[in-house]
Amino acid sequence: MAENMDEKKIIFSGIQPSGALTIGNYLGSLKNWVELQDEYNCYYCVVDQHAITVPQEPKMLRKNTLEILAVYLAAGLDPEKCTLFIQSHVPAHAQLSWVLSTMTYMGQLNRMTQFKEKSQKGEGNLNAGLFTYPVLMAADILLYNADLVPVGEDQKQHLELARDLADRFNSRYSDTFTVPDGYIPKLGARIMSLQEPEKKMSKSAEDPNSYILILDDEATIKRKFKRAVTDSIGIVKYTDEQPGIKNLITIYSSFSNMSIEEIEKKYEGKGYGEFKEDIGQLVADSLAPIREKVEYYLDNKDELERIYREGAQKAEKASRRVLSKVYRKVGFIQR
Ligand code: TYM
Repeated sequence: MAENMDEKKIIFSGIQPSGALTIGNYLGSLKNWVELQDEYNCYYCVVDQHAITVPQEPKMLRKNTLEILAVYLAAGLDPEKCTLFIQSHVPAHAQLSWVLSTMTYMGQLNRMTQFKEKSQKGEGNLNAGLFTYPVLMAADILLYNADLVPVGEDQKQHLELARDLADRFNSRYSDTFTVPDGYIPKLGARIMSLQEPEKKMSKSAEDPNSYILILDDEATIKRKFKRAVTDSIGIVKYTDEQPGIKNLITIYSSFSNMSIEEIEKKYEGKGYGEFKEDIGQLVADSLAPIREKVEYYLDNKDELERIYREGAQKAEKASRRVLSKVYRKVGFIQR
């Protein structure tokens, strides 16, 4: 409820508009955001400034940004309960990021596995933004004094940096930032590629058969599951020896709320064909209502506009307070 907003603990999280969202994004983060929105004072952001650390076609960036906001709403986030906004609308993110970058050691950023992976892809012309990106993420989180950050497993290391920077700032100046905790789901924190189950499912992967998009239609979802890589063992069992099947069981369990044991039992003595058929139907049925609502919001852009404008106002107010405190503490003269 709005009236006791101040007593609630705070959540911040975001998703990059660097492509259409996958069920990895949904199960690792968005689904949990919806579950947490009643209990916490939540700030959920479309982090467009993060997305430009890799080249983006401006038209596509705009499209993806609005689409992701529409998915937030369609998945059940309520703008009356939480603050939904676009990162570039709130200048304090970039401003705090600058201050924090002067307190971040190069060595810390050099150790970031996501940066190492992206730079090893040999894409050439690596930009400084990609390198300092975790500092901007720390700024996002610390700016709202978030207590909790619901993310997938791949963000753990970035979150650790945010905690470290909060501690460092607090001990160098005085108590300013809340040291945030991660909220990483037990199941679904790392959904794997359907084609290479040893790799994470990613919205920027080249092979569309490797991921299921939240907005894929029923036929596409079923086809992609049918083509998912499995093994020759032929038993529906949750084990490391069967990474493809293990991943499918995880997805099945996350969408059905059935336990792993129940799923194994249900498919005892049955082949992968039936299992794949069922999982395709289950996921398609679960996503259909979201897809329909997304279409509604994309057809009603003025409603989206009203929501992101109001969100930006609320986020700006909260973030300005923290930023001025930081500016004062580091010794900047107040205007
Ligand atoms: P991004 O945009 O890559 O992903 C958004 C969220 O989805 C989760 N995720 C997954 N979870 C499970 N399985 C997968 N295969 C999978 N792929 C992605 C991510 O862990 C993430 O929670 N740096 C962040 C965005 C960000 C942010 C923040 C997050 C910027 N500032 C502040 C939290 C707080 C990112 O690139 O997420």
